[in-house]
Amino acid sequence: MSKEDKIINLTHGDSHSELNIKQSTRGPDVIDLQRLNKNTGLFTYDPSYGATASCESKITYIDGSLGILAYRGYPIEQLAEQSTYLETAYLLYHGELPTPEQLEVFRLKVKQNMNLDEGIHQLFKTFPKTAHPMSMMATSMAALSVYHPNVNIRETQSRDDFFFNVLGKTPMLAAAILNTIQGSTAGMYDESRNYSGNVLNLFFGGAGDYEVSSVFSKALDVLLILHADHEQNCSTSSVRLSGSSGTNPYAAMSSGVAALWGPLHGGANEAVVRMFDEIKTVDRIGHFMDKAKDHDDPFRLMGFGHRVYKNYDPRAAIIKETCHTVLGELDQTENPIFELALTLEEIALNDEYFIEHNLYPNVDFYSGIIYKAMGIPLEMFTVMFTLSRTVGWATHWCEMMSSPKTKIGRPRQLYTGPTERDYIPVEKR
Ligand code: SDX
Repeated sequence: MSKEDKIINLTHGDSHSELNIKQSTRGPDVIDLQRLNKNTGLFTYDPSYGATASCESKITYIDGSLGILAYRGYPIEQLAEQSTYLETAYLLYHGELPTPEQLEVFRLKVKQNMNLDEGIHQLFKTFPKTAHPMSMMATSMAALSVYHPNVNIRETQSRDDFFFNVLGKTPMLAAAILNTIQGSTAGMYDESRNYSGNVLNLFFGGAGDYEVSSVFSKALDVLLILHADHEQNCSTSSVRLSGSSGTNPYAAMSSGVAALWGPLHGGANEAVVRMFDEIKTVDRIGHFMDKAKDHDDPFRLMGFGHRVYKNYDPRAAIIKETCHTVLGELDQTENPIFELALTLEEIALNDEYFIEHNLYPNVDFYSGIIYKAMGIPLEMFTVMFTLSRTVGWATHWCEMMSSPKTKIGRPRQLYTGPTERDYIPVEKR
Protein backbone atom coordinates (compact mmCIF):
# COMPACT_ATOMS: atom_id res chain seq x y z
CA MET A 1 0.00 0.00 0.00
CA SER A 2 1.21 3.52 -0.66
CA LYS A 3 1.80 5.92 2.20
CA GLU A 4 -1.54 7.67 1.50
CA ASP A 5 -3.48 4.37 1.41
CA LYS A 6 -2.38 3.17 4.86
CA ILE A 7 -5.81 2.81 6.41
CA ILE A 8 -7.67 0.08 8.28
CA ASN A 9 -11.41 -0.47 7.95
CA LEU A 10 -13.36 -1.33 11.07
CA THR A 11 -16.98 -2.47 10.81
CA HIS A 12 -19.13 -2.97 13.89
CA GLY A 13 -22.81 -3.65 13.33
CA ASP A 14 -24.06 -0.79 11.14
CA SER A 15 -21.12 1.44 11.96
CA HIS A 16 -18.05 1.62 9.77
CA SER A 17 -14.84 3.41 10.56
CA GLU A 18 -11.90 4.12 8.28
CA LEU A 19 -8.89 4.58 10.55
CA ASN A 20 -5.52 5.92 9.42
CA ILE A 21 -2.32 4.03 10.06
CA LYS A 22 0.46 6.36 11.24
CA GLN A 23 3.84 5.18 10.06
CA SER A 24 6.92 4.86 12.24
CA THR A 25 10.48 5.39 11.08
CA ARG A 26 11.40 2.15 12.89
CA GLY A 27 9.31 -0.60 14.50
CA PRO A 28 5.52 -0.98 14.48
CA ASP A 29 3.18 1.44 12.73
CA VAL A 30 0.12 2.46 14.76
CA ILE A 31 -3.62 2.64 14.17
CA ASP A 32 -4.81 6.18 14.82
CA LEU A 33 -7.83 5.58 17.06
CA GLN A 34 -8.67 9.22 17.73
CA ARG A 35 -11.85 9.00 15.64
CA LEU A 36 -12.85 5.48 16.75
CA ASN A 37 -15.28 6.38 19.51
CA LYS A 38 -16.91 9.16 17.45
CA ASN A 39 -17.38 6.81 14.48
CA THR A 40 -18.31 3.57 16.29
CA GLY A 41 -19.15 4.47 19.89
CA LEU A 42 -16.51 1.94 20.94
CA PHE A 43 -13.45 2.31 23.17
CA THR A 44 -10.35 0.13 22.92
CA TYR A 45 -9.40 -2.03 25.92
CA ASP A 46 -5.70 -2.40 26.83
CA PRO A 47 -5.54 -2.15 30.64
CA SER A 48 -1.74 -2.22 31.07
CA TYR A 49 -1.08 -0.50 27.73
CA GLY A 50 0.77 -3.54 26.34
CA ALA A 51 -0.19 -2.68 22.77
CA THR A 52 -0.94 1.03 23.10
CA ALA A 53 1.22 3.86 21.79
CA SER A 54 0.47 6.71 24.21
CA CYS A 55 2.35 9.33 22.20
CA GLU A 56 4.71 10.01 19.31
CA SER A 57 8.36 10.33 20.31
CA LYS A 58 11.77 10.69 18.66
CA ILE A 59 13.91 9.95 21.70
CA THR A 60 14.40 6.21 22.30
CA TYR A 61 13.67 3.08 20.30
CA ILE A 62 13.30 -0.43 21.70
CA ASP A 63 12.77 -3.70 19.83
CA GLY A 64 11.83 -6.27 22.46
CA SER A 65 12.08 -9.33 20.23
CA LEU A 66 15.56 -8.46 18.94
CA GLY A 67 16.82 -6.94 22.20
CA ILE A 68 17.53 -3.56 20.61
CA LEU A 69 17.79 -0.26 22.52
CA ALA A 70 18.88 2.97 20.81
CA TYR A 71 18.95 6.59 22.03
CA ARG A 72 18.26 8.94 19.08
CA GLY A 73 19.31 6.08 16.77
CA TYR A 74 22.61 5.27 18.46
CA PRO A 75 22.83 1.63 19.73
CA ILE A 76 23.15 1.40 23.51
CA GLU A 77 26.17 -0.90 23.16
CA GLN A 78 28.14 1.82 21.32
CA LEU A 79 27.11 4.54 23.76
CA ALA A 80 28.01 2.39 26.79
CA GLU A 81 31.43 1.66 25.31
CA GLN A 82 32.35 5.03 23.79
CA SER A 83 30.23 7.77 25.36
CA THR A 84 29.81 9.33 28.79
CA TYR A 85 26.67 9.94 30.82
CA LEU A 86 26.83 13.70 30.28
CA GLU A 87 27.35 13.29 26.53
CA THR A 88 24.47 10.81 26.43
CA ALA A 89 22.31 13.29 28.33
CA TYR A 90 23.17 15.92 25.69
CA LEU A 91 22.26 13.44 22.92
CA LEU A 92 18.92 12.54 24.51
CA TYR A 93 17.98 16.19 25.04
CA HIS A 94 19.31 17.81 21.85
CA GLY A 95 18.96 14.79 19.56
CA GLU A 96 22.53 14.93 18.22
CA LEU A 97 26.00 14.10 19.57
CA PRO A 98 27.77 17.29 20.75
CA THR A 99 30.99 18.88 19.58
CA PRO A 100 33.55 19.23 22.40
CA GLU A 101 32.54 22.92 22.75
CA GLN A 102 28.83 22.09 22.93
CA LEU A 103 29.49 19.40 25.55
CA GLU A 104 31.53 21.83 27.69
CA VAL A 105 28.72 24.40 27.62
CA PHE A 106 26.27 21.62 28.58
CA ARG A 107 28.54 20.45 31.43
CA LEU A 108 28.82 23.97 32.82
CA LYS A 109 25.05 24.52 32.63
CA VAL A 110 24.50 21.33 34.65
CA LYS A 111 27.30 22.21 37.09
CA GLN A 112 25.96 25.71 37.81
CA ASN A 113 22.74 24.06 39.00
CA MET A 114 24.52 21.60 41.29
CA ASN A 115 23.43 23.25 44.54
CA LEU A 116 20.41 23.01 46.84
CA ASP A 117 18.16 25.79 48.14
CA GLU A 118 18.59 26.34 51.90
CA GLY A 119 15.01 25.24 52.44
CA ILE A 120 15.77 21.86 50.88
CA HIS A 121 18.74 21.44 53.22
CA GLN A 122 16.38 22.23 56.12
CA LEU A 123 13.88 19.70 54.74
CA PHE A 124 16.50 16.97 54.88
CA LYS A 125 17.13 17.80 58.54
CA THR A 126 13.52 16.78 59.25
CA PHE A 127 13.94 13.33 57.67
CA PRO A 128 14.63 10.40 60.02
CA LYS A 129 17.85 8.50 59.19
CA THR A 130 15.67 5.39 58.85
CA ALA A 131 13.48 6.86 56.05
CA HIS A 132 13.67 4.93 52.78
CA PRO A 133 15.83 6.89 50.31
CA MET A 134 13.12 6.78 47.66
CA SER A 135 10.63 8.38 50.05
CA MET A 136 13.18 11.18 50.52
CA MET A 137 13.76 11.41 46.75
CA ALA A 138 10.03 11.60 45.98
CA THR A 139 9.54 14.25 48.69
CA SER A 140 12.56 16.39 47.85
CA MET A 141 11.94 16.22 44.08
CA ALA A 142 8.42 17.53 44.67
CA ALA A 143 9.85 20.12 47.09
CA LEU A 144 11.87 21.59 44.19
CA SER A 145 8.50 22.90 42.97
CA VAL A 146 8.34 25.03 46.15
CA TYR A 147 11.56 26.83 45.26
CA HIS A 148 11.05 26.80 41.47
CA PRO A 149 7.34 27.56 41.14
CA ASN A 150 7.43 29.65 38.01
CA VAL A 151 8.22 27.33 35.11
CA ASN A 152 6.54 28.77 32.02
CA ILE A 153 5.79 25.41 30.44
CA ARG A 154 4.94 26.91 27.04
CA GLU A 155 8.18 28.89 26.80
CA THR A 156 11.31 27.18 25.38
CA GLN A 157 13.83 29.02 27.56
CA SER A 158 11.88 28.26 30.71
CA ARG A 159 11.69 24.55 29.82
CA ASP A 160 15.42 24.61 29.09
CA ASP A 161 16.11 26.20 32.49
CA PHE A 162 14.01 23.48 34.13
CA PHE A 163 15.91 20.75 32.27
CA PHE A 164 19.35 21.93 33.42
CA ASN A 165 18.14 22.73 36.91
CA VAL A 166 16.67 19.28 37.51
CA LEU A 167 19.73 17.62 35.99
CA GLY A 168 21.95 19.59 38.38
CA LYS A 169 19.73 19.22 41.44
CA THR A 170 19.19 15.43 41.28
CA PRO A 171 22.77 14.38 42.14
CA MET A 172 22.65 16.87 45.02
CA LEU A 173 19.40 15.32 46.27
CA ALA A 174 20.92 11.85 45.94
CA ALA A 175 23.99 12.95 47.93
CA ALA A 176 21.82 14.63 50.58
CA ILE A 177 19.85 11.39 50.92
CA LEU A 178 22.97 9.26 51.32
CA ASN A 179 24.45 11.74 53.78
CA THR A 180 21.18 11.69 55.76
CA ILE A 181 21.13 7.90 56.15
CA GLN A 182 24.88 7.73 56.85
CA GLY A 183 25.12 10.85 59.00
CA SER A 184 27.91 12.11 56.74
CA THR A 185 28.54 15.34 54.82
CA ALA A 186 28.73 15.78 51.05
CA GLY A 187 32.02 16.11 49.23
CA MET A 188 32.81 19.07 46.95
CA TYR A 189 32.52 19.33 43.16
CA ASP A 190 35.93 18.95 41.54
CA GLU A 191 36.54 20.19 37.96
CA SER A 192 39.15 17.49 37.45
CA ARG A 193 36.57 14.73 37.82
CA ASN A 194 33.96 13.52 35.34
CA TYR A 195 30.26 13.64 36.23
CA SER A 196 30.21 10.18 37.80
CA GLY A 197 33.46 10.78 39.70
CA ASN A 198 31.85 13.88 41.15
CA VAL A 199 28.73 11.92 42.11
CA LEU A 200 30.89 9.42 44.02
CA ASN A 201 32.79 12.25 45.70
CA LEU A 202 29.55 14.01 46.63
CA PHE A 203 28.48 10.72 48.21
CA PHE A 204 31.63 9.70 50.04
CA GLY A 205 34.06 12.62 49.90
CA GLY A 206 32.77 14.70 52.82
CA ALA A 207 35.44 13.55 55.28
CA GLY A 208 38.17 14.45 52.77
CA ASP A 209 39.83 11.01 52.88
CA TYR A 210 37.95 9.40 49.95
CA GLU A 211 39.86 8.51 46.79
CA VAL A 212 37.55 8.33 43.73
CA SER A 213 38.40 5.07 41.96
CA SER A 214 38.65 5.41 38.17
CA VAL A 215 37.19 1.91 37.87
CA PHE A 216 34.15 2.89 39.93
CA SER A 217 33.59 6.22 38.16
CA LYS A 218 33.80 4.49 34.76
CA ALA A 219 31.45 1.71 35.91
CA LEU A 220 29.01 4.24 37.36
CA ASP A 221 29.09 6.24 34.12
CA VAL A 222 28.19 3.10 32.16
CA LEU A 223 25.33 2.35 34.58
CA LEU A 224 24.04 5.92 34.26
CA ILE A 225 24.16 5.70 30.45
CA LEU A 226 22.26 2.40 30.48
CA HIS A 227 19.48 3.64 32.79
CA ALA A 228 19.02 7.07 31.18
CA ASP A 229 15.91 6.39 29.12
CA HIS A 230 13.65 3.57 28.00
CA GLU A 231 10.76 5.04 25.93
CA GLN A 232 7.30 4.89 27.54
CA ASN A 233 8.00 2.80 30.67
CA CYS A 234 5.82 3.14 33.75
CA SER A 235 7.67 6.07 35.34
CA THR A 236 8.17 8.02 32.11
CA SER A 237 4.49 7.55 31.32
CA SER A 238 3.69 8.84 34.83
CA VAL A 239 5.71 11.98 34.17
CA ARG A 240 4.03 12.46 30.78
CA LEU A 241 0.50 11.86 32.10
CA SER A 242 0.83 14.10 35.16
CA GLY A 243 2.79 16.69 33.14
CA SER A 244 0.05 16.80 30.47
CA SER A 245 -2.23 18.59 32.95
CA GLY A 246 0.18 21.55 32.85
CA THR A 247 1.43 21.01 36.38
CA ASN A 248 4.81 22.19 37.71
CA PRO A 249 7.39 19.88 36.05
CA TYR A 250 9.21 19.14 39.35
CA ALA A 251 5.90 17.85 40.71
CA ALA A 252 5.50 15.77 37.54
CA MET A 253 9.02 14.39 38.04
CA SER A 254 8.09 13.31 41.56
CA SER A 255 5.32 11.16 40.06
CA GLY A 256 8.04 9.45 38.04
CA VAL A 257 10.04 8.86 41.23
CA ALA A 258 6.96 7.34 42.87
CA ALA A 259 6.39 4.98 39.94
CA LEU A 260 10.06 3.98 39.65
CA TRP A 261 10.16 3.06 43.36
CA GLY A 262 7.89 0.06 42.79
CA PRO A 263 9.58 -3.39 42.89
CA LEU A 264 8.07 -4.29 39.51
CA HIS A 265 9.93 -1.29 38.04
CA GLY A 266 13.10 0.44 39.26
CA GLY A 267 12.71 -0.85 42.81
CA ALA A 268 13.64 -4.27 41.41
CA ASN A 269 17.37 -3.47 41.66
CA GLU A 270 17.07 -3.36 45.45
CA ALA A 271 14.68 -6.35 45.49
CA VAL A 272 17.16 -8.44 43.46
CA VAL A 273 19.91 -8.14 46.08
CA ARG A 274 17.41 -8.81 48.86
CA MET A 275 16.41 -11.93 46.89
CA PHE A 276 20.05 -13.05 46.63
CA ASP A 277 20.37 -12.52 50.41
CA GLU A 278 17.30 -14.73 50.90
CA ILE A 279 18.46 -17.47 48.51
CA LYS A 280 21.91 -17.40 50.16
CA THR A 281 23.41 -20.51 48.50
CA VAL A 282 23.35 -22.20 45.10
CA ASP A 283 21.72 -25.34 46.51
CA ARG A 284 18.61 -23.28 47.44
CA ILE A 285 18.08 -21.90 43.90
CA GLY A 286 15.80 -24.81 42.92
CA HIS A 287 13.43 -24.04 45.78
CA PHE A 288 13.14 -20.40 44.71
CA MET A 289 12.73 -21.35 41.05
CA ASP A 290 9.79 -23.54 42.08
CA LYS A 291 8.29 -20.63 44.04
CA ALA A 292 8.77 -18.32 41.02
CA LYS A 293 6.84 -20.74 38.79
CA ASP A 294 4.06 -21.36 41.30
CA HIS A 295 1.15 -19.05 40.43
CA ASP A 296 -0.18 -19.40 43.94
CA ASP A 297 3.09 -18.05 45.31
CA PRO A 298 3.55 -14.25 45.02
CA PHE A 299 7.35 -14.71 44.73
CA ARG A 300 8.77 -13.66 41.37
CA LEU A 301 12.40 -13.93 40.26
CA MET A 302 13.38 -10.28 40.64
CA GLY A 303 15.52 -8.88 37.87
CA PHE A 304 13.98 -11.35 35.41
CA GLY A 305 11.28 -10.76 32.81
CA HIS A 306 10.22 -7.61 31.02
CA ARG A 307 7.07 -6.22 29.42
CA VAL A 308 8.93 -5.36 26.22
CA TYR A 309 12.08 -7.49 26.06
CA LYS A 310 11.23 -11.09 25.17
CA ASN A 311 14.93 -11.53 24.60
CA TYR A 312 18.00 -10.70 26.66
CA ASP A 313 17.83 -7.06 27.85
CA PRO A 314 20.85 -5.54 26.08
CA ARG A 315 21.58 -3.47 29.19
CA ALA A 316 21.81 -6.60 31.39
CA ALA A 317 24.48 -8.05 29.11
CA ILE A 318 26.59 -4.88 29.39
CA ILE A 319 26.10 -4.65 33.18
CA LYS A 320 27.11 -8.30 33.55
CA GLU A 321 30.33 -7.54 31.67
CA THR A 322 30.89 -4.46 33.84
CA CYS A 323 30.44 -6.66 36.92
CA HIS A 324 33.28 -8.87 35.72
CA THR A 325 35.50 -5.80 35.20
CA VAL A 326 34.76 -4.13 38.54
CA LEU A 327 35.00 -7.30 40.61
CA GLY A 328 38.16 -8.26 38.74
CA GLU A 329 39.72 -4.90 39.64
CA LEU A 330 38.74 -5.49 43.26
CA ASP A 331 40.21 -9.03 43.22
CA GLN A 332 36.68 -10.20 44.03
CA THR A 333 36.22 -12.60 41.11
CA GLU A 334 34.94 -15.09 43.73
CA ASN A 335 32.26 -12.57 44.84
CA PRO A 336 29.57 -14.90 46.31
CA ILE A 337 26.61 -12.79 45.17
CA PHE A 338 27.93 -12.57 41.62
CA GLU A 339 28.57 -16.33 41.61
CA LEU A 340 25.01 -16.90 42.84
CA ALA A 341 23.63 -14.54 40.17
CA LEU A 342 25.54 -16.24 37.36
CA THR A 343 24.37 -19.69 38.49
CA LEU A 344 20.78 -18.50 38.89
CA GLU A 345 20.83 -16.98 35.40
CA GLU A 346 22.19 -20.20 33.89
CA ILE A 347 19.54 -22.32 35.62
CA ALA A 348 16.72 -19.93 34.67
CA LEU A 349 17.80 -19.62 31.02
CA ASN A 350 17.67 -23.42 30.75
CA ASP A 351 14.36 -23.79 32.57
CA GLU A 352 11.42 -24.79 30.38
CA TYR A 353 8.98 -22.40 32.08
CA PHE A 354 11.36 -19.44 31.76
CA ILE A 355 12.09 -20.31 28.14
CA GLU A 356 8.38 -20.69 27.37
CA HIS A 357 7.62 -17.32 29.02
CA ASN A 358 10.58 -15.53 27.39
CA LEU A 359 12.01 -14.58 30.78
CA TYR A 360 15.52 -13.17 30.65
CA PRO A 361 17.64 -11.05 32.98
CA ASN A 362 16.68 -7.37 32.80
CA VAL A 363 18.56 -4.17 33.63
CA ASP A 364 18.07 -4.72 37.37
CA PHE A 365 19.51 -8.22 37.68
CA TYR A 366 23.22 -7.39 37.94
CA SER A 367 23.30 -3.64 38.65
CA GLY A 368 23.03 -3.93 42.44
CA ILE A 369 26.16 -6.08 42.57
CA ILE A 370 28.16 -3.16 41.20
CA TYR A 371 26.50 -0.56 43.42
CA LYS A 372 27.21 -2.80 46.44
CA ALA A 373 30.88 -3.16 45.39
CA MET A 374 31.07 0.67 45.25
CA GLY A 375 29.86 0.88 48.85
CA ILE A 376 26.44 2.31 47.93
CA PRO A 377 23.86 1.14 50.48
CA LEU A 378 21.16 -1.28 49.26
CA GLU A 379 18.32 1.16 49.93
CA MET A 380 20.03 3.71 47.65
CA PHE A 381 19.98 1.52 44.53
CA THR A 382 16.74 2.91 43.13
CA VAL A 383 17.94 6.44 43.89
CA MET A 384 20.83 5.62 41.52
CA PHE A 385 18.26 4.61 38.91
CA THR A 386 16.45 7.92 39.52
CA LEU A 387 19.72 9.84 39.19
CA SER A 388 20.12 8.47 35.69
CA ARG A 389 16.48 8.38 34.55
CA THR A 390 15.96 12.04 35.44
CA VAL A 391 17.39 12.98 32.03
CA GLY A 392 14.93 10.67 30.29
CA TRP A 393 11.94 11.97 32.23
CA ALA A 394 12.93 15.62 31.72
CA THR A 395 13.57 15.08 27.99
CA HIS A 396 10.21 13.38 27.50
CA TRP A 397 8.48 16.16 29.45
CA CYS A 398 10.18 18.79 27.26
CA GLU A 399 9.30 16.87 24.07
CA MET A 400 5.68 16.66 25.17
CA MET A 401 5.37 20.30 26.29
CA SER A 402 7.09 21.66 23.18
CA SER A 403 4.40 20.09 21.00
CA PRO A 404 1.41 22.38 20.32
CA LYS A 405 -0.66 19.22 19.79
CA THR A 406 -0.26 18.04 23.41
CA LYS A 407 -3.57 17.58 25.22
CA ILE A 408 -4.28 16.44 28.76
CA GLY A 409 -4.08 12.65 29.01
CA ARG A 410 -7.45 11.19 29.93
CA PRO A 411 -7.95 7.40 29.38
CA ARG A 412 -11.47 5.93 29.38
CA GLN A 413 -12.68 2.58 30.82
CA LEU A 414 -14.77 -0.52 30.37
CA TYR A 415 -17.54 0.08 32.93
CA THR A 416 -18.98 -3.10 34.49
CA GLY A 417 -20.54 -1.59 37.59
CA PRO A 418 -24.27 -1.36 38.48
CA THR A 419 -26.66 -0.03 35.83
CA GLU A 420 -28.83 2.98 36.77
CA ARG A 421 -30.95 2.58 39.90
CA ASP A 422 -32.97 4.95 42.15
CA TYR A 423 -31.92 6.12 45.60
CA ILE A 424 -33.63 4.32 48.51
CA PRO A 425 -34.21 6.43 51.63
CA VAL A 426 -32.49 4.92 54.66
CA GLU A 427 -35.77 4.15 56.48
CA LYS A 428 -36.75 1.89 53.55
CA ARG A 429 -33.50 -0.15 53.29
C1 SDX B 1 12.30 -2.15 34.78
O1 SDX B 1 9.18 -1.02 31.12
C2 SDX B 1 10.46 -0.72 31.22
O2 SDX B 1 11.09 -0.33 30.24
C3 SDX B 1 11.05 -0.85 32.59
C4 SDX B 1 12.56 -0.75 32.70
C5 SDX B 1 13.06 0.66 32.36
O3 SDX B 1 14.23 0.80 31.98
O4 SDX B 1 12.26 1.64 32.58
O5 SDX B 1 13.17 -1.69 31.83
C6 SDX B 1 13.05 -1.03 34.13
O6 SDX B 1 11.34 -1.91 35.45
C7 SDX B 1 12.72 -3.58 34.50
C8 SDX B 1 11.79 -4.64 35.19
C9 SDX B 1 12.18 -4.79 36.65
N1 SDX B 1 11.18 -5.65 37.36
C10 SDX B 1 11.52 -6.88 37.80
O7 SDX B 1 12.60 -7.44 37.61
C11 SDX B 1 10.42 -7.55 38.62
C12 SDX B 1 10.30 -9.03 38.20
N2 SDX B 1 9.68 -9.07 36.88
C13 SDX B 1 8.26 -9.31 36.76
O8 SDX B 1 7.47 -8.90 37.82
C14 SDX B 1 7.72 -9.00 35.35
O9 SDX B 1 8.53 -9.67 34.48
C15 SDX B 1 7.58 -7.56 34.91
C16 SDX B 1 6.79 -6.76 35.86
C17 SDX B 1 8.91 -6.93 34.69
C18 SDX B 1 6.85 -7.58 33.55
O10 SDX B 1 5.61 -8.13 33.81
P1 SDX B 1 4.47 -8.26 32.68
O11 SDX B 1 4.94 -7.81 31.38
O12 SDX B 1 3.23 -7.63 33.21
O13 SDX B 1 4.33 -9.79 32.57
P2 SDX B 1 3.40 -10.67 33.46
O14 SDX B 1 3.54 -10.33 34.91
O15 SDX B 1 2.03 -10.68 32.86
O16 SDX B 1 4.08 -12.10 33.27
C19 SDX B 1 3.84 -12.87 32.11
C20 SDX B 1 4.04 -14.31 32.56
C21 SDX B 1 3.22 -14.64 33.82
O17 SDX B 1 2.96 -16.03 33.80
P3 SDX B 1 1.52 -16.55 33.18
O18 SDX B 1 0.46 -16.01 34.15
O19 SDX B 1 1.40 -15.96 31.79
O20 SDX B 1 1.63 -18.05 33.20
O21 SDX B 1 5.42 -14.49 32.94
C22 SDX B 1 5.50 -14.77 34.34
C23 SDX B 1 4.17 -14.37 34.96
O22 SDX B 1 3.89 -15.14 36.11
N3 SDX B 1 6.60 -13.96 34.87
C24 SDX B 1 7.45 -14.35 35.82
C25 SDX B 1 8.34 -13.28 35.99
N4 SDX B 1 8.02 -12.28 35.16
C26 SDX B 1 6.93 -12.70 34.46
N5 SDX B 1 7.51 -15.51 36.54
C27 SDX B 1 8.52 -15.56 37.45
N6 SDX B 1 9.45 -14.59 37.67
C28 SDX B 1 9.37 -13.44 36.96
N7 SDX B 1 10.26 -12.47 37.17
